[in-house]
Amino acid sequence: MRKNYLSPSILSADFAHLGEDIKHVEAAGSPYLHYDVMDGLFVPSISFGMPVLESVRKITDMVLDVHLMIQDPDRYIDDFVRCGADIITVHYEACSDVKRTLDKIKEHGKKAGVTIKPKTPNRVLEDVLGLADMILLMTVEPGFGGQSYIPESTEKIRELRRVLDERGLDTDIEVDGGIKKDNLRTVLDAGANVIVAGSAIFKGDIEQNTKDFLKIMGE
Ligand code: DX5
Ligand code: ZN
Repeated sequence: MRKNYLSPSILSADFAHLGEDIKHVEAAGSPYLHYDVMDGLFVPSISFGMPVLESVRKITDMVLDVHLMIQDPDRYIDDFVRCGADIITVHYEACSDVKRTLDKIKEHGKKAGVTIKPKTPNRVLEDVLGLADMILLMTVEPGFGGQSYIPESTEKIRELRRVLDERGLDTDIEVDGGIKKDNLRTVLDAGANVIVAGSAIFKGDIEQNTKDFLKIMGE
């Protein structure tokens, strides 16, 4: 049986007490923490970068799952590794040579992920299927938390899992954007096993929300 991992996105946390919010998801048993980096170029908004990651690394043992929404991420791989990333995921659309970038991440002994936007077809990933440890299918347009899940994503997840199975690859499929308690089962059944959730975890009772997600995920 494939293992499922919850990855709460701190983009929806309250940054005035980020440490406390993180402690709540950790206390509830979340294995991963999702860290969204935005550069104001690849996506319209700007979030946070290396110094905040360095501080987060000091207060948690959760796996730090870093999602780089930045143009030419190659430039910053060394920095994010130094600041404590465990998994680094880059956008296919933002890389000039995505294979080289994935290799660079793996040379550091870290897990390498590749991600595509909702309108980018799965087939662009053909050449990197055996190289990436994780494939992140964006289920909203990247850039902001709190958007609605794009329903067409379910078929993309199903198709990707089928292709991976056909090739005997046990690659993780992560989904990110608009995942709530009421559509979680749908994405799991379609074949996703790493679940990002921002607003559904950090708005309201953080610990309870985390526990509810983990329960539905069978963790
Ligand atoms: C969107 C980010 C997401 C975001 C998800 O660009 O990559 O990780 O935090 O937020 P929700 O779960 O609120 O859609
Ligand atoms: Zn993300």
